[in-house]
Amino acid sequence: MSTSKEIRILLLEDSISDALLIEMALADVVEFEHRLVRSERLSDGLARTQSMRFDVVLLDLGLPDAQGLDTVRTFIRLSPDVPVLVLTGLDDASIGLLAIQEGAQDYLLKKDIHASELGRAIRYAIERHCIAAALRASEERFQLAVTGATAGLWDWNLQTGAMYLSSCFKEIMGYEDSELPNEARVLRDAIHPDDADRVFTSLKAHLEHKGAYDVEYRVRTKSPDFRWVQSRGQALWDDSDQPYRMVGWIIDITDRKRASEALRESREELQRLSANIQHVREEEKNRIARELHDDLGQQLVTLKVEAAKIEDHLMSAETTAPVATLRKVYSLIDQVIGSVRRIAAGLRPTMLDDLGLTPAVDWLIDEFSASHDVQVVRRIDVDNIDFNHEAGTAVFRIVQEALTNVARHSGATSVTLEIVCEETNCIVRVVDNGSGCPSDARPNANAFGLLGMRERAARLGGAIRIQTAPNQGFALTVTLPLAAVETREGE
Ligand SMILES: Nc1ncnc2c1ncn2[C@@H]1O[C@H](COP(=O)(O)OP(=O)(O)OP(=O)(O)O)[C@@H](O)[C@H]1O
Ligand SMILES: [Mg+2]
Repeated sequence: MSTSKEIRILLLEDSISDALLIEMALADVVEFEHRLVRSERLSDGLARTQSMRFDVVLLDLGLPDAQGLDTVRTFIRLSPDVPVLVLTGLDDASIGLLAIQEGAQDYLLKKDIHASELGRAIRYAIERHCIAAALRASEERFQLAVTGATAGLWDWNLQTGAMYLSSCFKEIMGYEDSELPNEARVLRDAIHPDDADRVFTSLKAHLEHKGAYDVEYRVRTKSPDFRWVQSRGQALWDDSDQPYRMVGWIIDITDRKRASEALRESREELQRLSANIQHVREEEKNRIARELHDDLGQQLVTLKVEAAKIEDHLMSAETTAPVATLRKVYSLIDQVIGSVRRIAAGLRPTMLDDLGLTPAVDWLIDEFSASHDVQVVRRIDVDNIDFNHEAGTAVFRIVQEALTNVARHSGATSVTLEIVCEETNCIVRVVDNGSGCPSDARPNANAFGLLGMRERAARLGGAIRIQTAPNQGFALTVTLPLAAVETREGE
């Protein structure tokens, strides 16, 4: 404390001689300057504290309007900001000690009053009062902060196991303040079994100076649902490095957890959906690619054949028969246009749907035979199979592509086509007597026909097998399980 500051002292003393003794002792105090105001009655003294600021009161316990400990109680209640130093005329320290319990900072026996003792007692009384006031203010600030943050306080005495749990703490757990005892086991038993290991490991590490204590876990509430809390704490260690106390807080983070959980789930759902959409889009793209390929493939081969025929006619046209030649050319162009129109109108799938598989395949073969000089031997025996839409389309397209390949690649004079039922499978076999190709030949990067066949077969749980060698013809066998080929009940 600065010695230069003047200390304002209120002396509440009705005895003139005692007052004189104190004034004389004060005059000898060298540690600080002072200004003394004296009142003989408690009521007067209290009135003065309203109009003037005092640093300390020297309080006699026997005043005309107040006696004993009541004097202390009344003064502190009505003027709590002024530290009290009790003066007792009794040769007995016990009343002084009781006065301290009532809130006085210290006491002095009047008979022993000396300047040095009085000066030190005044100084300490003021200091202790300041410290207590600062502590109270800081506790209030802390409480305010804690309440504002809706945090629950815990203060754990590691030696006795007692744990103070603030009312807000108990509220988070769904209890009234009086419903839970202040014991560490209350919190320990409430931790979710799946989180307990994590919490205790973090706690142990903190007590061993190995990290901060900051964990999120679930606590069982009164209801008895679980709620998520975040808990932080700080231990205190004694001189021999033993933790003796730990203080911390919890806050309820259930809503935050639920929100982030919901966010995570919706993100996952979104990812699933977009992956699914992507998958569906890929599937659709592949389907369209297959349809276009299979449909246009044969038509383009046909167009090429027809174009060659037109060229032949033009080249061989005799000037003597121009009208006949032109008629032939026009008729061929009409056929080509008709073919293109049929493709554009999506005629084939419609026909397949309308007529069923066997007539549609028969039609395919007729078309093939009309344009190519290849003999077709057919064995189609599947009337007892009730093809579902996907399987019917697959068989139709596979036959279509196989015949297109025969026309494009084999130079065959004959081809055998079988669609039959063998054991539990539907078998499609297309065998030609053409040039074949090396069995390990890698199709070029743009080749799509056999790939499309494999995909269609695989989608139905089936497979394709190719047997070929140069000049040994080309044999394609497609095996489709009947279980996937036939229409199921309810479809
Ligand atoms: N009947 C066949 N005779 C001889 N070789 C064949 C026969 N069928 C297919 N091939 C060979 O297999 C290859 C791959 O056939 P695929 O149907 O996959 O492709 P592509 O017919 O060349 O082209 P795309 O069908 O995509 O128009 C062909 O290029 C050809 O070399
Ligand atoms: Mg092909």
